[in-house]
Amino acid sequence: MTTIAIPPGMPQYDDVPRYDVAAVRADFPILAREINGHPLVYLDSANTSHKPRQVLDVLAEHYARHNANVSRSVHTLGTEATEAYEGARGKVAAFVNAPSVDEVVFTKNSTEAINIVAYAFSNASLRPDADPRLRLGPGDEIVISEMEHHSNIVPWQLLAERTGATLRWFPVTDNGRLDESGLTDLVNERTKIVSLVHMSNILGTVNATSRITARVREVGALLLLDCSQSVPHMPIDVVDLDADFIVFTGHKMCGPTGIGVLWGRTELLAAMPPVFGGGSMIETVTMAGSTYAAPPARFEAGTPPIAEAVALGAAVDYLTGVGMPAIQWHEKQLTAYALDALRTVPGLRIFGPEVPVGRGGTISFALGDVHPHDVGQVLDSLGVQVRVGHHCARPVCARFGVPATTRASFYLYTTTEEIDALVAGLEQVRKVFG
Ligand code: ALA
Repeated sequence: MTTIAIPPGMPQYDDVPRYDVAAVRADFPILAREINGHPLVYLDSANTSHKPRQVLDVLAEHYARHNANVSRSVHTLGTEATEAYEGARGKVAAFVNAPSVDEVVFTKNSTEAINIVAYAFSNASLRPDADPRLRLGPGDEIVISEMEHHSNIVPWQLLAERTGATLRWFPVTDNGRLDESGLTDLVNERTKIVSLVHMSNILGTVNATSRITARVREVGALLLLDCSQSVPHMPIDVVDLDADFIVFTGHKMCGPTGIGVLWGRTELLAAMPPVFGGGSMIETVTMAGSTYAAPPARFEAGTPPIAEAVALGAAVDYLTGVGMPAIQWHEKQLTAYALDALRTVPGLRIFGPEVPVGRGGTISFALGDVHPHDVGQVLDSLGVQVRVGHHCARPVCARFGVPATTRASFYLYTTTEEIDALVAGLEQVRKVFG
């Protein structure tokens, strides 16, 4: 029942999972908008996705009918709100195949989730009785990559500053892949944690992590994967991934802003000291000291983003209803189509893998010497919304010798016609800027 036109020359498989893209688009009210007199062409879903009516309705319904604080009220509304909040945790846990619902910690976003892990490490480093896997000091190493978003760089730089540990990183190859050639040197007996992006928000690269995971296990380190750009776009199974922590964010997966997820293995979360102190994260409090609740409550101090979590649960329902394998397939076709289409634009340089293998539907490029802000402005005048700039990943731009790029990114509602509109818009940019 698909409506995506399989581009000529592409495999016409019959047995791939599909869905009705036109019907999906009809669920997203914003897609009916016009921008500057043109139909909206939204190619910025890596930045934030749009929200279907099914999620917007649940958000409004929660405030209209079930609003109360959670985990602290015995009245009916409090019980309803708590059930909805904890129900959302269950949906998120099932979505990533978490072995236990208590492995899902609700956070504000991926950035906060990574910071919670990094601060738990430094808090553990102050406690001689803490789990030695979480304690860092001079001589210990933290490993990231040159491909990271700032949210997976700065928290580790700060952790290194606080503990005296050393930060090291995987380089990136010319075609935008992780350079694993130095793996055994980089991940070694001194390594405490490796924190890597699963799918790059700027290059689109999807990192195959099995070799790195095997090495991490060999040296007894821990592995965090930043899945902000992968969980929304492909089926993710934390058991298969075999990481120790993953993080992702609600607003890139049809959910609201203000809600993210830290998933961690039960025994690791249990070993981690708290990061934020306050209501709901305690077991007992006296003036002399406190003891702490078990995870996930230990990491959810204060009133959490309740309606946002409930709406994230609705987003999970929505994506599951469409089908994550089908979404992944749709985006794979779009990516193949877009890579071919962009190659027809004279002077266009793609950053990142130029084949639709081991990459997702996020494509950064330069158009000759035209500044990305100019590219973005001309495209916007035609209704085409792309992100321009350093995409909060300055080291990637530095790696490729550019201050900024233009980035088009796709999602379950994107069509090949929208990619055609992008290419036509780029022709217009070339006319304007010669
Ligand atoms: N990290 C988000 C992006 O890539 C904000 O646009």
